[in-house]
Amino acid sequence: MSESFDAIVKVDAEHVMATYPRLPVAFVRGEGTRLYDSEGRAYLDFLSGLAVCSLGHAHPAVADAVADQARTLVHVSNLYYNDVQPRLAERLDTLLGGGGRVFLANSGAEANECAIKLARRYGQAHGGPERYHVVSTYGSFHGRTLTTLAATGQPQKQERFQPLPSGFRQVAFADLDALAAAVDERTCAVMLEPVQGEGGINPAPAGYLAEVRRICDEREALLILDEVQTGLGRTGRWFGFEHAGDGVRPDVVTMAKALGNGVPIGACWARADIAAAFAPGDHATTFGGQPLAARAALTVLEVMEAEDVPARAARAGARLTAAIEPLPGVEAVRGTGLLLAVELGADSDAKAVELACRERGLIVNAVTPTALRLAPSLLVSDDEVDEAVAILAAALDAVSAP
Ligand SMILES: Cc1ncc(COP(=O)(O)O)c(C=O)c1O
Repeated sequence: MSESFDAIVKVDAEHVMATYPRLPVAFVRGEGTRLYDSEGRAYLDFLSGLAVCSLGHAHPAVADAVADQARTLVHVSNLYYNDVQPRLAERLDTLLGGGGRVFLANSGAEANECAIKLARRYGQAHGGPERYHVVSTYGSFHGRTLTTLAATGQPQKQERFQPLPSGFRQVAFADLDALAAAVDERTCAVMLEPVQGEGGINPAPAGYLAEVRRICDEREALLILDEVQTGLGRTGRWFGFEHAGDGVRPDVVTMAKALGNGVPIGACWARADIAAAFAPGDHATTFGGQPLAARAALTVLEVMEAEDVPARAARAGARLTAAIEPLPGVEAVRGTGLLLAVELGADSDAKAVELACRERGLIVNAVTPTALRLAPSLLVSDDEVDEAVAILAAALDAVSAP
């Protein structure tokens, strides 16, 4: 029996740093696409912990693997080898086409921190001491550490933490002229999300990534793709960049959210010759690649491959999009696979619709003031998709009623 909502809120208020604007619900259990709150109410979870639980909650294979590993070996230091970390790195490298090396971390921000440090080392080794600048885009989100915040193109998130590390600048997303003007001989890397996630689910327009790749090659800058939210099946392909066609191969790819299905883990993959810019001692994190988290991730990837989750995400995303587009109050649906934004139009109040959905048992979130984000489990069933659409329709109706 869990504590009551009021008891949870009281202890939270007294002891947890108030960094999160919390919503008035406390979850205590999950199973597949369902979440249960402290009062015993069930919800259809179409957010998956912000695109993290891509196999749904409490996936039995992941739960069994974590329990087994917890009884076997949770952690040793990276001073030593362990038997799980290299297997996970091997699998990620295979998914990315091979010829790379992987650094394992604990979060998306940490994976990006690794990518930025690596790009600086590589840039300075090949282009001299001035080649350490990173160009990213407005509307991007790369994390909340000081360095990843400096790369994040959202001035309102940066304001209260100035001065941030130097060497970062942003240009408008999808503006190739602005990018070409910003990338010069001091640029070690261009850093992008194939679909901007926290910025409002903004997919890169057709041809954009290929052109960015060309600019990077021409100016000898690395292309870092932040696939923390888009990676591992979410967009209907293993990686978001795969939508851009064969010609676009990134130099560095970061991943996190879906990798552990909720067990904290992040990964930075880089082409082997780039990864070689790091010497032993250059970068480290105590928990990175520990057997417990690595075993969870290895199992997640095994299930994803067995279930062909990219194809399932593409199919479910198409069904969801087709059902939502005609709903009254919906202006457009954007995104790919199961990373979707439902745009409600200029005068709308997405937060009010989010609340009306929650009252009716559906979890989504207002990713912008006028758009809802949908990112359910990639194993979501057709019946669950239809149920979510019916709740969304009722919520839109309730909010629009005079
Ligand atoms: C694209 C992207 N990069 C990086 C991050 C940061 O990841 P974390 O919160 O695990 O540090 C996020 C988190 O939302 C993200 O969406």
